[in-house]
Amino acid sequence: MSAYNIFKELHSGFRYVVFVLVLLAIIQSLLGWFGKKPYTEGNRKINLFALISAHTQLIIGLVLYFLSPNVVFNSGTMKHEATRYFTVEHWVMMLIAIALITVGHIKAKKEETSEGKHKTIAIFYVIAFLVIIGAIMAGHLPVLGSK
Ligand code: HEM
Repeated sequence: MSAYNIFKELHSGFRYVVFVLVLLAIIQSLLGWFGKKPYTEGNRKINLFALISAHTQLIIGLVLYFLSPNVVFNSGTMKHEATRYFTVEHWVMMLIAIALITVGHIKAKKEETSEGKHKTIAIFYVIAFLVIIGAIMAGHLPVLGSK
């Protein structure tokens, strides 16, 4: 198995870790916000693990970027859907989502009330999750395949 295939499988599978942790963070923040619950150490940890998983996916993605045959820099890049998507669109959208998770986490830390912390996580992580789903849906197109 080539380094490309290893990182591709890793990156592809790790998406589910990101999904599950971000979804868990969203569910508990909504329950906490609307149920007026205290912001617990458990809540903080899930939010942190979701952030760490997103950053890990960023690092794996960055390595994959330099291995993928679908990332090309030539006059044809923007003409083909797969190369345009993976060279430009995918990482830009994912980076926006990861930045939203990071900013949400930092802002929640600074909030003084439990309600403020839950609310901040809920808003930032929901938007980030929608961006991730949107990016993956946008990528459901014929991929050029491995070289
Ligand atoms: C939350 C963040 C991310 C998620 C959930 C995610 C998810 C995915 C998924 C589901 C694929 C398709 C894999 C497959 O074909 O089976 C993919 C491909 C890819 N991702 Fe990401 N990604 C993320 C962030 C990034 C970032 C930040 C980069 C680059 C800096 C990146 C670079 C790539 C590349 C180059 C491929 C193409 C692999 C190929 O050649 O087919 N990803 N990503």
